[in-house]
Amino acid sequence: MEKMLRIVVLVSGSGSNLQNLLDGIAEKTLTGVRIVGVISNNAGAYALERARKADIPALAISPKDFPSREVFYQRLEATLEDFQPDLMVLAGFLVVLPENLVKKYENRILNIHPSLIPAFCGSGNYGRKVHENAIARGVKLSGATVHFVDAGTDTGPILLQKSVPVFPDDTPEILQKRIQQDAEAVLLPQAVQLIADGRVFFRDGNAYVREVPSRK
Ligand code: GRF
Repeated sequence: MEKMLRIVVLVSGSGSNLQNLLDGIAEKTLTGVRIVGVISNNAGAYALERARKADIPALAISPKDFPSREVFYQRLEATLEDFQPDLMVLAGFLVVLPENLVKKYENRILNIHPSLIPAFCGSGNYGRKVHENAIARGVKLSGATVHFVDAGTDTGPILLQKSVPVFPDDTPEILQKRIQQDAEAVLLPQAVQLIADGRVFFRDGNAYVREVPSRK
């Protein structure tokens, strides 16, 4: 049987990126992957409901339920280990992962960010603020980036980017929606497929896509 790439998706909010992966798997446009678990730091995240509807184990692990950050991180790490993921996908996950976890899963954690990195990224650029900042700067293009996670914030190897236009009358909400629909919806499933197909390689700290799939 074909080897399935085991994915754990980490979420905090609505979970539209998770849904894009679930839809891709259901419609068989995303193949060779299995979402084995979804973890949210927020028990009220709609993303958890989306996971449960798809019969995927969905857990809330919230820092506020633990006596310290350290204990929270220990539980998160232990839970991740139980799922034995080949790949972790941060899909709107708002918690910064501890350095040891990032090291342990080096080049095996993907993040999606709603701008063309290195523009409008790093601390302070999350949620609506990314789009407010892009509009305030008057950029004519924005978009989304899928990158691997390293110890910094939005600094890891870039895997894929997709641009969308920014129009004069855009509000942050309108731009956010355009990026979600026209860039993120395409990019994250595509990135996961490339990894499942063994087409991603690293050189000099950057990530690249092999043109021809390697034999597995
Ligand atoms: C997305 O815009 C993603 O780029 C960012 O957080 C948002 C998550 O949205 N990292 P959703 O929970 O996937 O709907």
